[in-house]
Amino acid sequence: MTLKKNYAGILGTGFYVPEKILTNDDLSKIVDTSDEWITERTGIKERRIAADDEATSDLAIKAAESALKDAGVTPDELDLIVVCTLTSDRIVPSTACMIQHRLGAKKAAAFDLSAACSGFAYGLSVASQFIETGVYSKALVIGAEALSKYINWEDRNTCVLFGDGAGAAVIGNVEEGYGILSFDLGSDGSGGDAIQIPSSGSRLPVSKETIDQRLNLIHMNGKDVFKFAVKAMGNTVKHSLEKIDMPQEKIDWLVPHQANIRIIQSAAKRLDMPMDKVILTVQKYGNMSAACIPIALAEAASEKRFKKGDIIALSGFGAGLTWASCIIRWSKDN
Ligand code: ACO
Repeated sequence: MTLKKNYAGILGTGFYVPEKILTNDDLSKIVDTSDEWITERTGIKERRIAADDEATSDLAIKAAESALKDAGVTPDELDLIVVCTLTSDRIVPSTACMIQHRLGAKKAAAFDLSAACSGFAYGLSVASQFIETGVYSKALVIGAEALSKYINWEDRNTCVLFGDGAGAAVIGNVEEGYGILSFDLGSDGSGGDAIQIPSSGSRLPVSKETIDQRLNLIHMNGKDVFKFAVKAMGNTVKHSLEKIDMPQEKIDWLVPHQANIRIIQSAAKRLDMPMDKVILTVQKYGNMSAACIPIALAEAASEKRFKKGDIIALSGFGAGLTWASCIIRWSKDN
């Protein structure tokens, strides 16, 4: 195990999902699909949809307040706020700055991080570096998405998959040997076209024409992403474990990105993990990109499923293409 000056870990977690529930049966009235197809191919039964006047920051702030309360940390103690999202309220300013203002986190630096569904594991790894080096003592990492605003409700290949929500974690110093023990981050931009919003930035600015062609909404080659994901999810956890010479049998809990139950089952199999050790939310919330892992983590923590000392592996993959994992020794008492 590498010797560190300070150990960075999770002090508290929180999450929020919008009230509106969209079931598979509801979707079958909008596009040519069925509860049977969606359940069998994805494991998703329902998802949450943000209200018309609810943006990513509105979801994020509720998750953040809940995480701060759980951690017993006040906003003015925060040194850093990282918001992991691909659905920021606006391109400029960052959603992190909106959260900084709304929380009243006066001394916090704030920025958004774009790594799609791998975002939260990326964000946790980045924030932990500031804590371990002693530069900062408290950071807030949020994964938040209002993906429903970017869904083509006429495309059955994508509209059944996504949902909205936010999860957050407060990061700070923990006892020696606890907290974020290792991480693995990766990218392969050659697969960038597999998941994209073609008209969303300076390459093809949004215009009447691009809106008419639905180019301002999510486009995905599901099969390509599926093939990439089944390998990436297990491999990135193995790489994180190798860095600390930890055998995979030591993992007590897998908290995976929740895109598709078949991808999760395949990752669990690669890691020889029984499904009762895998935290699942995919059936009730669907794929909320960067929000999936922190919501699953916060929900499981609120249900007191983790005990102090448990080894938790977070594993994500997503647009970019990106992948990321973290190995955490849980430092909180139940
Ligand atoms: N209802 C009914 N039929 C459908 C639906 C639907 N909602 N969607 C697709 N079909 C049809 C297709 O048209 C196709 O019909 P055809 O054979 O007549 O052409 C058939 O079902 C099979 O389609 P496939 O694409 O082969 O289905 P597959 O088993 O691959 O499942 C899925 C599709 C669920 C999208 C899967 O490929 C997947 O989960 N991919 C990964 C997606 C992912 O993980 N994205 C995460 C990243 S997102 C991010 O980073 C923001």
